[in-house]
Amino acid sequence: MKNKNIALIGFMGSGKTLVAKKLGELFDWEVISIDALIIEKEGKAIGDIFAESGQSYFRQLEKDFLKQAVERQSVIIDGGGGIILDEANRTLLKEKCVVIHLSASADVIYERIKDETHRPLVNVDDPKTKIEELLEKRQSFYAQADYVIKTDHKNPEAVCQEIKEMIQND
Ligand code: S3P
Repeated sequence: MKNKNIALIGFMGSGKTLVAKKLGELFDWEVISIDALIIEKEGKAIGDIFAESGQSYFRQLEKDFLKQAVERQSVIIDGGGGIILDEANRTLLKEKCVVIHLSASADVIYERIKDETHRPLVNVDDPKTKIEELLEKRQSFYAQADYVIKTDHKNPEAVCQEIKEMIQND
């Protein structure tokens, strides 16, 4: 773990934000949420950024904030679910972080996020099918992580313990 950060990647609803918070407490490391930085900079919700400025504008901000975040040391990076779509982002994450993929099944993801309205990509008529499609498209990118942890039916504390044990020799 020398000179490295921890980056959590995974689909929306896989538990990244809650796990990042708990992991930050466990390690006493700062947590950097890329989505939160974008929301703060733009002064509006992600749904509004997508609607008013477009997805590519959002992706550029995501890329810029990730670039800054990986230059820090001993931080936990909570990246949005689509951060791995960009090749340069994937390279940076690999180079500067221990990358942990929090993986969840489409059914569990759907149950976790179905009542939320702030996630533009799944705010559609048939969110379940959309989740399955996006998961399938992104699977090979998520699979490039150093470690994978299944989060279905696990609480954030249990996931954090698994992470701690997994990376202790890293
Ligand atoms: C996105 C995931 C979201 C957010 C944006 C796009 C995606 O983050 O960055 O809505 O492309 O999967 P979370 O995974 O934290 O919900």
